Amino acid sequence: MRDVTINAGEQVRRAAEIIRGGGVVAFPTETVYGLGANAFDELAAARVFEVKRRPFFDPLIIHIANKGQLGDLVTDIPPLAEKLTDRFWPGPLTVVLPKKTAVPDIITSGLPGAAVRMPSNNIALQLISAAGVPIAAPSANLFGYVSPTSAEHVRSQLGDSVDMVIDGGECDVGIESTIISFMGEQPTLLRPGGTALEDIEDVIGKVTIPANSDLKNQSPGRSDQHYATSIPLVLVDDITGINDVNAGLIALAPNSDIGDIGKFTKVEYLSSNGDLREAACNLFAAMRRLDNSGVGLIAALPIPKTGLGLAINDRLARASRKGVHI
Ligand code: TXA
Ligand code: MG
Repeated sequence: MRDVTINAGEQVRRAAEIIRGGGVVAFPTETVYGLGANAFDELAAARVFEVKRRPFFDPLIIHIANKGQLGDLVTDIPPLAEKLTDRFWPGPLTVVLPKKTAVPDIITSGLPGAAVRMPSNNIALQLISAAGVPIAAPSANLFGYVSPTSAEHVRSQLGDSVDMVIDGGECDVGIESTIISFMGEQPTLLRPGGTALEDIEDVIGKVTIPANSDLKNQSPGRSDQHYATSIPLVLVDDITGINDVNAGLIALAPNSDIGDIGKFTKVEYLSSNGDLREAACNLFAAMRRLDNSGVGLIAALPIPKTGLGLAINDRLARASRKGVHI
């Protein structure tokens, strides 16, 4: 990994050169850090899977810097997709649309749709523009683990296996983009994320929410076990059942209704006043802190399922499934 003491403009210029040369670069977006490669370069994309230890059945989101690039990637932009991208791009929204043959199958894992998003983070936009190609990028963590919201998170996990990490500070939104597929009859929610479902439905009307089994066919990466800490995490309705001597707690905000928090070794409140945007922003860093704090178990209390709360609950629920992650 190269040093990151140079200024942002110089970092972006060097990173764009690396992308054009077939390398992989970790870069900030407003949601989480991405691990990027030229979306038209199959070998570079293969390296992304390798570095992340991600199975090839789990496709990559393609990042663009302007609407014009969308036409290079997809064959059709239905009116509802147009409305949605007009309203929420640049920002934490990904749309799945029928892919052009120019998009390599390795990027979409052989699926007929390409997932595309225009991030709002300035460094990300500058990087994509300077590279001159769309950038395929999953979150810059090892497969199955918690997503990174700082350059330090990326370095601690991927370290020397990437060609460069651009340090753009902490991510503003802190939770991944909302993914809406336009591949079926109705717009379908493949992943709740940084754009609230209510706001999306305000623009395009009802969005279908598939059952988990159906979801896995449409978006193979949405496996049950994901975003997981190394220490077991359990979602509980209240803390009465948690009597482990060395447990940590994740809760939305300080609140006397929670009960006796004195029995926890470490408590992480996601917000001081219950603000769901602030909570989304803090979630992954809080999970990492607890994971590295020496506790033997992490208990998490449910978050209201409105606004960004839907995405926070989704991540906690998937982190809590029993199973082995890589
Ligand atoms: O906010 C984000 O979306 C971040 C930043 C870096 O942009 N990216 C991100 O990528 O979260 P990743 O790879 O960690 O998650 C992408 C999700 C996976 O669940 C994958 O299955 C789904 O998007 N996906 C990607 N391409 C798809 C496709 N062509 N069809 C259906 N689902 C797709
Ligand atoms: Mg991810």
